[in-house]
Amino acid sequence: MEESDEEGEDNEEFLERLMAQTGREMPQRELEEHYAVLEELGSGTYGRVVLTEPLDGGPPVVLKLMLKERTEWRAFLREYCIALCLSSHAACLRALPVAFESTTHFAFGQELAPAGDLCEMVPPCLQEGLAEELVKRCASQLAEALDFMHSRALVHRDVKLDNVLLFDRECRRVKLGDFGLTRMQGSAVGAMSGTLPYSPPELCLLQGSDTLELDSSLDAWAFAILLFCLCTGCFPWAMAASSDPQFKDFSAWQAGRGVPASWPGFSSGALEMLRRLLTLDPDRRSPAIEVQKYLSLPWVMAPSAGELVPSSSQSPLTSRTGESPGGTGGRDVAGGGDGVPVPPANTLAPCW
Ligand SMILES: Nc1ncnc2c1ncn2[C@@H]1O[C@H](COP(=O)(O)OP(=O)(O)OP(=O)(O)O)[C@@H](O)[C@H]1O
Ligand SMILES: [Mg+2]
Repeated sequence: MEESDEEGEDNEEFLERLMAQTGREMPQRELEEHYAVLEELGSGTYGRVVLTEPLDGGPPVVLKLMLKERTEWRAFLREYCIALCLSSHAACLRALPVAFESTTHFAFGQELAPAGDLCEMVPPCLQEGLAEELVKRCASQLAEALDFMHSRALVHRDVKLDNVLLFDRECRRVKLGDFGLTRMQGSAVGAMSGTLPYSPPELCLLQGSDTLELDSSLDAWAFAILLFCLCTGCFPWAMAASSDPQFKDFSAWQAGRGVPASWPGFSSGALEMLRRLLTLDPDRRSPAIEVQKYLSLPWVMAPSAGELVPSSSQSPLTSRTGESPGGTGGRDVAGGGDGVPVPPANTLAPCW
């Protein structure tokens, strides 16, 4: 523990130095004078992510453009520098040594993920998961990315479908991106500082000005929710609080009662993996990397009837951010509770 705190401090000092130096060297340039925008890849309140072509030649560059009026200088520098530090890992989205500020935006360059993000692979209208093989490919690579971050005392804090970038539609190469919320382990974070259905109970419990000491166990929880979504196309619950009936069923299972009736046909191995990653006590929760131990086991029960589909009581994936109204909207279970088999091999068509 002490060792990890010390390492945390070293990493923090290093990050501060890198941010200071990067900030001093940041050039001023106007986007349209240096780049032709080819395509918008994403947008939000923060700004836009665009594919561009440098006007002076060279390969296309993805630029994350953050509106100055909505982004603090330090927040931009932190995100860029963390992305640079993590770029050496194969499963972390690579930042390029290109960053500038314009009159209206801060910008930094990234490699292009040509197949989009995981959200597009699990369209909310289908409410079906991915084939087990694809889920496991994602699981394995993302576990490595998280382990790398956690070994450097960094907590991602925003593990979700939208933030996993794809290099092919078979998920052979996927990367964790968007380090905008990433902070050092041990930092204090407040209530509502993530995406609700991915938030662990210790975060959902926070009230008003309460804070929580940031720990990698927060990412392990969100990672398990992401795996559940990939397997089923649904969130297990809208919010990890006792007021949510699905979460209440799940908590009862954690306390020794039966598997939640609304959970579709996961194998016993997958159930054990999810139970360990979703341990209510963050101090006893398994680390994300433990997923590797379960990759050789089946994750869904042997095929007999129907598909691995959510029950009607699960929370559908209703938007990219994962904000879910909770409760209704899912499909009825086809084939009943027992022996629910492998999900269909291909449910990849985007539908919005
Ligand atoms: N390098 C990339 N290659 C391809 N698509 C990308 C890339 N970076 C981002 N995108 C797309 O843009 C979206 C938004 O990017 P990012 O997650 O970095 O921004 P954000 O800060 O999360 O925005 P939001 O406020 O929507 O959460 C991603 O979900 C993805 O679809
Ligand atoms: Mg994002």
